[in-house]
Amino acid sequence: MTPALSPFLHPFARPAAPPETFVRFVRGEGAYVWDDAGKRYIDAMASLWYCAVGHGRAEIADAIRAQAATLAGYQCFDRFTNEPAEALAAKVAAIAPMQNARVFFTSGGSESVDTAIKIARVTSHIAQKPGKTIIISREPSYHGVAYGGLTATGLAPNREGFGPLLPDVIRVPKDDLAALDAVLDREGDRVTAILTEPIIGAAGVFPPQSGYLQGLRERCDRIGAWLVFDEVICGYGRLGEWFGAQHFGIEPDMVTFAKAITSGYVPLGGVIVGPKVRAVLESQSDFIFRHGYTYSGHPTACAAGLANLAIMEREGLVGAAKTMGAHLEKGLKTLVDGDRVKEVRGGVAVWALGLTPALDALKLRDVLLDEGIIVRPIGPATIAYCPPLVTSPDDIDAIVDGTRRAIARM
Ligand SMILES: Cc1ncc(COP(=O)(O)O)c(C=O)c1O
Repeated sequence: MTPALSPFLHPFARPAAPPETFVRFVRGEGAYVWDDAGKRYIDAMASLWYCAVGHGRAEIADAIRAQAATLAGYQCFDRFTNEPAEALAAKVAAIAPMQNARVFFTSGGSESVDTAIKIARVTSHIAQKPGKTIIISREPSYHGVAYGGLTATGLAPNREGFGPLLPDVIRVPKDDLAALDAVLDREGDRVTAILTEPIIGAAGVFPPQSGYLQGLRERCDRIGAWLVFDEVICGYGRLGEWFGAQHFGIEPDMVTFAKAITSGYVPLGGVIVGPKVRAVLESQSDFIFRHGYTYSGHPTACAAGLANLAIMEREGLVGAAKTMGAHLEKGLKTLVDGDRVKEVRGGVAVWALGLTPALDALKLRDVLLDEGIIVRPIGPATIAYCPPLVTSPDDIDAIVDGTRRAIARM
C-alpha cells in the first residue's frame, strides 16, 4: 500500500511526494537549524534568501508578542492606520534609494510585484495614457507566482500549465540592451515600466553586466516609463547597502521588497513608491487607489520589521554582508576546477556555483543535506548560497569545506 500523503500540500514540490521526502525542522538559532531527529544544519540559504539576522532572535519574538498582545491586527483600508505601520513606513522611506518616498505594504514578494505592476498601469490611467500598459521584464528572472509577477518571470517551467497569463508583458534577454531597444522602437510609447532584479536571484544568481542597469535607467527616462527594482532578495542588506539600487548607484522609481524586511519572522512585503510615481498618484485629490490587501500595514508584521531593522542597524549587519560575502566568494572560488564546477557567480553576499553537466545540482543538494548544509539547487546546473548575515567565518569555511566534501563524494 502506498503511504498516506501529508495533508500539507507543499509549495514548489511534487504533490505525489511521499512523507519521507520532507525534512522537518523544529528549531533555529543564528545560522543553524535543527530537524526533529536532532541533526544540526548550517542554513547557507537563510531559509529562502530571507533570514538576514539569523534564527531564534528573542528580541523579534518579544516585539511580535508585545504587539500581538496590544493590537495584533487591524486593517488599514481607507481611514484606518496604526503606529507600527506608520513607523516602519517612515523607517523604510528614510533608508530607501530615493528621497521623499512612500511605502505600500503587502504580505510578500508576489503581492509586491503585482502591486508595482498595478501602480505603473494606474499612473498611466491617471495621466490619461490608457494604452501605456506594457511591462518589460527579463529572461531569466523571478518575480513571484501571482499572475502579474508570474507573467513577468523569465522561467518558462513556472509559467507552464497555468493558462492565459497577463497581457502586455514582454520579456527580453538579460544584459541585452539591443534586444530591449528593438522592443522600444516598436512599443516604446506603450511601455509603462521596466521590471528588473538588481542581481537575478531565484532564476540563477546572475549579476548584471556593467552599465546594464544604467542603460535601463536611461531608457526609462527617455520613453517616460518607471524603472522598478525587484529587491525581494537584494533588499535589506544582502548587497552590503540597504538596497541593491544603492550598491549599483541607480535611483529606481519603485522598489519591491519582502523577505529580509522581517528576516521572515512574520510575512511582510511592500513597494517603495518614489517621488515621481507618488506625484501622479497624488495629483487628483479625489482619486482612490483601489488596491490593497487585508494585511497591508498589519501591525504585528510591521512591529517585527521594526525590531528586525533595529537589530540590523545595531549590529552593523548591512556592512557585515560585505565581509561575510567576500569570505564566501573566496572560499567558493577554490572549488572551481573546470571539470565539475565551472564558475562562481553573484555579488556581495549572494553567490552561486555554476556546475558542468558532470555534477547534478539536485543530487549535490541532497549530499550537502547529508553533510548538514542547506543550499538551494536552481535547475540542474546551479547551487545558490545566501547565508544569514550573522554567519561566522568558521561557518562560512564549514559551508565551503562541506561543499568540497560533497563534490568529492559524488
Ligand atoms: C525577486 C523576487 N521577486 C518576487 C518574489 C516572490 O516573493 P514571495 O515568494 O514572497 O511571493 C521572490 C521570491 O523569491 C523574488 O526573489
